[in-house]
Amino acid sequence: MADEMFSVRIVPVVVLHDAHDAEPLGKALVAGGLPVAEITFRTAAAAESIRAMSGIEGLVVGAGTVLNPDQVDEAVAAGATFIVSPGLRRDVVRAAQAAGVPVLPGAVTPSEIMAAQELGLDTVKFFPANVYGGASAIKALSAPFGGMRFVPTGGVSASNLSDYLSLGCVPAVGGSWMVPVDAIREGAYDRVSELCRDAVAAAAAVGK
Ligand code: 3PG
Repeated sequence: MADEMFSVRIVPVVVLHDAHDAEPLGKALVAGGLPVAEITFRTAAAAESIRAMSGIEGLVVGAGTVLNPDQVDEAVAAGATFIVSPGLRRDVVRAAQAAGVPVLPGAVTPSEIMAAQELGLDTVKFFPANVYGGASAIKALSAPFGGMRFVPTGGVSASNLSDYLSLGCVPAVGGSWMVPVDAIREGAYDRVSELCRDAVAAAAAVGK
């Protein structure tokens, strides 16, 4: 899959309740050195937020929490350039492939990983990572599935991301810790940029 969204090895998982917040948030991410955003379809503002953010220079915008093929089409029409789903649904994967955008379905068991392989995928989301065994589970799964890459999300933070990013099969981690809902609500975009800078620095320090 295309790796544009893994350029700094962190994918912020964004929940926006008001699409008016999308543009300032996107700019805050870029200012904080995090040029990617996964906008989740957990709110009705998702598609409009993607549309607003996709015009921001230097920002790669995708859709998360995509649960069905209609949402894939809605997200892509709004400008999403990648699709993330919490689980693996073949029709969701196929809709994304038909639209020509990379797709990251959730897969945490050997059977789910094999289903992802069958669909021609080499990267899956590992969610919720903290519940399904964390870095040690990913390490164990990477033995039989040598070519598979895992993007853990769920309970990832600046303080534990190195556990994951030090694994060769983890191109990036995802999480919401640098885009707190209360900071967005309060318009505290400097705080968001600061959290992004800290996250990017922590990721860059892994393996050094
Ligand atoms: C996701 O959808 O990837 C998660 O909700 C992100 O998990 P977090 O909120 O624990 O970072």
